[in-house]
Amino acid sequence: MTAGQRLTILGLESSCDDTAAAVLRREASGDLVLLSSVVAGQTSLHAEFGGVVPELAARAHAEKLDHMVEESLAQADIPLADIDAIAVTAGPGLIGGVLSGVMAAKGLAYGLGKPLIGVNHLAGHALTPRLTDGMRYPYLMLLVSGGHCQFLHVKGPDDFTRLGGTIDDAPGEAFDKVARIMGLPQPGGPSVEKAAQSGDARRFSLPRPLLDREGCDMSFSGLKTAVLRQRDQLVAAQDGLFEQDRADICASFQAAMRDVLAEKSRRALALADGITGFAVAGGVAANQTLRKALEAVSDEANTPFVAPPLALCTDNAAMIAMAGLERYLEGARDDMTLSARPRWPLDQSAHAMLGSGKKGAKA
Ligand code: KG4
Ligand code: ZN
Repeated sequence: MTAGQRLTILGLESSCDDTAAAVLRREASGDLVLLSSVVAGQTSLHAEFGGVVPELAARAHAEKLDHMVEESLAQADIPLADIDAIAVTAGPGLIGGVLSGVMAAKGLAYGLGKPLIGVNHLAGHALTPRLTDGMRYPYLMLLVSGGHCQFLHVKGPDDFTRLGGTIDDAPGEAFDKVARIMGLPQPGGPSVEKAAQSGDARRFSLPRPLLDREGCDMSFSGLKTAVLRQRDQLVAAQDGLFEQDRADICASFQAAMRDVLAEKSRRALALADGITGFAVAGGVAANQTLRKALEAVSDEANTPFVAPPLALCTDNAAMIAMAGLERYLEGARDDMTLSARPRWPLDQSAHAMLGSGKKGAKA
């Protein structure tokens, strides 16, 4: 990033089930300093429902946003008056949550007389490696979250080409469903990963969907159904599930997921020209088995691999402040007409697809 004036951006995120605020500073030298990043999750709020309840999520966001802003400023140790611009997730996501964030951001921008910048949540994930590792354009990004799965050729803050993605479920969704099938707590990713640690990944042979089809598109819904069938077979045969069965199924599922993501990444790397590296982001990128496999694929292709710290892989507002900063530097400004967009694809030219950001409710 080039030199210029010092800028301090407040970022807000509330598109799914995390209420987050962050303060990011760009020094006159161009150096970036993340002054604070705070996140209030809603896991316990939705626990008894087995998934995020949009109305409950929206209400909790509306209640918590002010507190998160205060906390982020306190941790950054700066007054509100020092903020130069407000960046907020304007979509895609659950409409009630996105609206809560956009309204809060509008209030702050109006009250302070400072610019407002609407940010695409997926762009936030996709630009995270620029914040954490100073990654240079263009690069390949695998965005794997609870609502999305896509390979993006990232060429600029507003310039993304989708090389492929899931045609049905997102990997995080599959992890969450598998956790539900196995009676493990939500969010499913961390529980399945933990259970898999003591499991034998070779005990069950689960499908590796779409590996026989050319290109980088993926499918995970059949894999989830195969897990359900496997569980039912075991339950019918032995009248229940033992701890070891659970671990073995989780390990076998995670291995299938790993193999598909690794092979499709290999193909995406072959398609993306002139990249400076391969990066992952999104909640599923927190998974250590997947990270290792993707790093190995990147090594094979002689391409630097970047996996941001876990806290910046899952939903957070630092990435929104970062995407807002980049848009700000390009001259982008929004005003009081900024609207919340539940659907907002990053690559407007790509054909519509489930899980690509065109239809997915979560991000
Ligand atoms: O990006 P993110 O924080 O939120 C949205 O999707 O909006 O991703 C959350 C998803 C959830 O489905 C969660 O189960 C999954 O990321 N996840 C993981 C892990 N940690 C979170 N999946 C696999 N392994 C993990 N360690
Ligand atoms: Zn996300």
